[in-house]
Amino acid sequence: MSESDKEKQKIYYPLPELAENARIKSMDQYREMWKKSVENPREFWAEEAKMVDWFEPYKEVWTGSTPEDFVGKWFVGGKLNVCYNCVDRWVEKGYGDAKSLIWMGEDDTLKEFTFSELKDAVSKTANALKSLGIKKGDRVCLWLPMVSELAITMLACARIGAIHSIVFGGFSAESVKDRIDDSQCKVLVVADQVMRAGRPRPMKDNLKGIIETCPSIEHVAVVKVTGDENVYKYEKDVDFTALVAEQSTECPCEPMDAEDPLFILYTSGTTGKPKGVVHTTAGYLVYGMSTNKYVWDYSCLIDLKGDTVEGRDVWYCTADIGWITGHTQIIYSPLALGAKTVMYEGVPTWPHKGRFWEICEKLGVTHFYTAPTAIRALMKYGEEPVNKFDLSKLKMLGTVGEVCNWPEWKWYWEVVGKGTTGEKPVGRPIVDSYWQTETGSYMMVNLGAITPMKPGSCTFPFFGINPVLLDEDGNKVTKSMTQAYFAYDMPWPGLMRTVWGDHERFVKTYLTKFPGHYFTGDYAQIDDDGYYFILGRSDDVIKVSGHRLGSAEVEAAINSHEAVAESAVCPYPHPVKGSTIFAYVTLMTGVEPTEELKKEIQKHVRTTAGPAVYPEIIMFSDALPKTRSGKIMRRVLKAIATQSDIGNTMTLANPEVVQHLIDERKKLGEIKF
Ligand code: PRX
Repeated sequence: MSESDKEKQKIYYPLPELAENARIKSMDQYREMWKKSVENPREFWAEEAKMVDWFEPYKEVWTGSTPEDFVGKWFVGGKLNVCYNCVDRWVEKGYGDAKSLIWMGEDDTLKEFTFSELKDAVSKTANALKSLGIKKGDRVCLWLPMVSELAITMLACARIGAIHSIVFGGFSAESVKDRIDDSQCKVLVVADQVMRAGRPRPMKDNLKGIIETCPSIEHVAVVKVTGDENVYKYEKDVDFTALVAEQSTECPCEPMDAEDPLFILYTSGTTGKPKGVVHTTAGYLVYGMSTNKYVWDYSCLIDLKGDTVEGRDVWYCTADIGWITGHTQIIYSPLALGAKTVMYEGVPTWPHKGRFWEICEKLGVTHFYTAPTAIRALMKYGEEPVNKFDLSKLKMLGTVGEVCNWPEWKWYWEVVGKGTTGEKPVGRPIVDSYWQTETGSYMMVNLGAITPMKPGSCTFPFFGINPVLLDEDGNKVTKSMTQAYFAYDMPWPGLMRTVWGDHERFVKTYLTKFPGHYFTGDYAQIDDDGYYFILGRSDDVIKVSGHRLGSAEVEAAINSHEAVAESAVCPYPHPVKGSTIFAYVTLMTGVEPTEELKKEIQKHVRTTAGPAVYPEIIMFSDALPKTRSGKIMRRVLKAIATQSDIGNTMTLANPEVVQHLIDERKKLGEIKF
């Protein structure tokens, strides 16, 4: 075994002082609590739900009848408001002057909202939405960069019971349209422009010719980020910045039913059409709060843990709010716990490579949460950009979105966390949180203060979560280090409730492959010590920089180019992004396969589907390997792309195409990034 392999297989321990003041102090305590939580989930979740301020108490914790009943309802009969829990209650409890959301701009502008200021800003925005005709149950689409207005508008929606549907800024205007049409949004809130690496870039301009084709949209509410007057104007435009400014700060919080939808967030699946994942009010809130409280153990207004109100820990999650991580981990859970939460406008590498660490020093960040892809991007620049800044306030680090592999794990541990190596390595813990848009918050995760870590493992289940490994026939796989399908065998409050407008799709996608289980779509394995390792997707979902893309979506974008007859995509290993997109493209008869055409197709996809969907490698091919039923054999495509063993091709209808593809792949040679 090499030195590196030995190091990788060691157990890493969190700094012992973290356990002393932790909410859960030992692994024995965790194990005992976990056992109780899965044996009697109603009791466990009733206890956690006490963190919420209810307008009316709920009557029943959960209406399911068997543990496998995933469609039961949570906290039935309860009335509450998420915005009230995130904002107003802290003001009412006398913490109006305490800091809540700390927003930092690319140009270092700092907006440190106290809970009172946040309440006023949210109330004014909520009144502005109301003045545009938005009421409880209406859908509002938010397509905004990481400006403070995004956080405030989502809270404003929650305040009045409107359902927000946030679309990631890196998606195209076409994707915005699809999402607006699917959930029939009445208002689109959009920025005039985006600031990226010091330069204004178009945002609203991209909607030209598209927003006019969204019949449900009554108003386009424009947030002035740059205030550029030359930005394209639509008939339905409203100057949202001005409208908000003239509103009153009085706006009551709408009492919502526990099971009323809080938001829709579209995510990719195996078909071309993204799914509108619906999260509800009470279950999502309770689950997000509970996970954040125990996993990160930060001091917050729910429990100051001996800190002063001003001395509370500082939480910084670097995700974009356009993804579930931003929803749950920047806004809803930390604010509901009464934490200080940082939101940063820009990218990690501008104006310099140490921007994240500079923010940590400047804002006194104690808990830092990012994605492996960001760590890989930063480790290229070595230690110097990190060492320039004082990171001594940091207590815990964390990752999300994909496996944190050994090289980046080691760098994070040693360079950022200043963890020790040697016989028994000790340092700032790296929380490896495994979860999904659908699950609301963490499912498999280490409790930062106490769980011994194994690099690359998301360790153990959170409370109330019972993971199972299954074979193709649904039998439990108990043998260690054996790849299996990863599922859960009982529901939890934060689970999505439905796919917007298509409940059958929800049941079919998640609850049908293994009846009585929620199936994640991932492969996983367990080791002899009970540590879980996620092995990646078992379906056609591709993760690029931790972002989830459906193969069919990317293919639809490629196929919409007039020269393309057919295409198929697969993931290809990338040193920073984890995976990038490798596309096989068959051209229309008579079209010349040129390098220019490749670039044109890439450009076409970038504009129609968005930069997030960019097919970085294109290979022209005369045909694609298909089964007799016409299904593309992706396993073969992946193997050809990575020049690895292709395996059995007996079931192919056109095996002769394989050699052609292998030859074409050879011509591409080594792919450099
Ligand atoms: O494949 C798993 C991977 O990301 C998928 C969920 O993607 P998304 O809904 O976009 O949510 C990402 C942020 C919550 C999972 O099915 N994944 C997420 N976290 C991890 C992970 N894979 C390995 N380790 C993780 N910690």
